[in-house]
Amino acid sequence: MTTGSEIRVSFPRLRARLDALAEIGALDGGGCARLACSDADRVGRDLVVTWMRDLGTRVEIDVIGNVIATWPPDHFDPPVMMGSHIDTVATGGIYDGCLGVLAGIEVLETVIANGIETQHPIAVAFFTDEEGSRFHPDMLGSLVYAGGLAVEEALATVGVDGAVLGEELQRIGYAGSAPCPGRPPHAYVELHIEQGPVLEASGATIGAVTGVQGISWIEVTVTGQSNHAGTTPMTMRHDAAYVAASIAVFVRKLTEEMGAPLVGTVGRVALHPNLVNVVAARATFTIDLRHTDDTLLSEAEERVRSHCDTIAAAEGVDVSIRSLARFEPVAFANDIVDLVEEIARGSDGVVMRLPSGAGHDAQMLARVCPAGMVFVPSVRGISHNPAEHTDDVDLARGADVFFALVLRLAGAT
Ligand code: GLV
Ligand code: MN
Ligand code: MN
Repeated sequence: MTTGSEIRVSFPRLRARLDALAEIGALDGGGCARLACSDADRVGRDLVVTWMRDLGTRVEIDVIGNVIATWPPDHFDPPVMMGSHIDTVATGGIYDGCLGVLAGIEVLETVIANGIETQHPIAVAFFTDEEGSRFHPDMLGSLVYAGGLAVEEALATVGVDGAVLGEELQRIGYAGSAPCPGRPPHAYVELHIEQGPVLEASGATIGAVTGVQGISWIEVTVTGQSNHAGTTPMTMRHDAAYVAASIAVFVRKLTEEMGAPLVGTVGRVALHPNLVNVVAARATFTIDLRHTDDTLLSEAEERVRSHCDTIAAAEGVDVSIRSLARFEPVAFANDIVDLVEEIARGSDGVVMRLPSGAGHDAQMLARVCPAGMVFVPSVRGISHNPAEHTDDVDLARGADVFFALVLRLAGAT
C-alpha cells in the first residue's frame, strides 16, 4: 500500500460493526429493513451514534437528521468527509451504505488509536433517506446538505405511507439543530459496494468510480373507469391496468431500442380497486430511468411521456405524471479518481475505472466539494436484495484502500 505507513485498519472490528448493525431490522433469512426514519432506522442510528461518541468525536445532527462525527473534536476547518447512509430499502442487504459509514468509523478509530495527525480534520457522516424508498427523492439528506433542496420543502415531504418526514424525524429524535445547507467539506469520499456485476465480470476487485449516471424518477397515475369484467366489451373499456402494462412494456422496449447504458424500471405498481373481476379504475406506478448522458436521458423521458399520451388517448383514460427525482449525471473530481487508482495499484487488488449505476450521497456532495468513491465487488451483482454479498477479502481490501485515500486527502503527517 502507499499509505507511507504500516498502520492498517482493523477488519475484524469493521466486520463486527457490520454484523451488529445488520441485526437491527434483520429480515428472516438475511438482509435488513431499515426504511428512513422508521423505528428500525432510529435504533440503527442510536447504535452508530454511540460508536461515534465512544471515539470522542464531535457529533452534530443537522435539521434534516444527517449525523456528522468529526475528529479532532475541537477542529472546525472543513474536513475530509467520509460517509454514506444506514437506511435501507425494505428488502435491503447489509452492505449498501452501511459499509461506507462503518468503514469511515473504522478509519477514525484507527487514526485516533494511533495518534495520526492530519492537516485537515476528518469526519464521517450518515445522511438521511439516501434510499428514497419511503420519502422521495433518493439522496434526500445529502441533497439538502448540499443546498439542492430547501429544508422546509424536505421536511414537508409526504412518504409512501402518508407519514411526514419532519414529523418522523421529531418522533425518532433526529430533528437536529445544525444548519443546512451544511458547510462544504474539504473533500468527500465514500466506500461502497458496486451493487452491479461489472467489477466481478472484469476480474477487478477495486473500482475507481468516475461518476454517477443521471436519474429520473416519475410517478404515473392512470385514471380510467371501473366496470364489470364479464359484461364490459373490450371495445368499451377505459382500463387503467392495461394502460399501465402498456407503458411498462414500452419502457423495456425503449431500453432495447436506445441501448445501454439506458436502464428503465417499473418498480412500484398499485391498482384500484385491485379486484379479480373489476376493470381497474386507477393505476399508480413508478418509472426509474437512468443514463450516463443527460441528453439521452431527457430523450428517453420525452419518449415515455409521448407514449403515455398516445395510449391514454387510444384507451380513453387520463394520465398524469409527477416527477419524484431528477438528477443529472455527475463526474467525480479527476484528482480523486486518479488517487484511488494509484493507491489501489499499490494494493494486491486489480483496479478498474467505472461509472456508478446506483445513486449515492457522493453524487450530491460533488456539487459543493471535490468528491469520489471506491467500489468493491458485489457477488453476482446482486443488491437491493437480502442476498447482497461481498467477500470479506474484498471488503478488507476496500477498507485498506479507503484508509490510505483518506490519509492522503487529509494530509497525514
Ligand atoms: C439509490 O440507492 C438508488 O440508486 O436508487
Ligand atoms: Mn447505497
Ligand atoms: Mn441503495
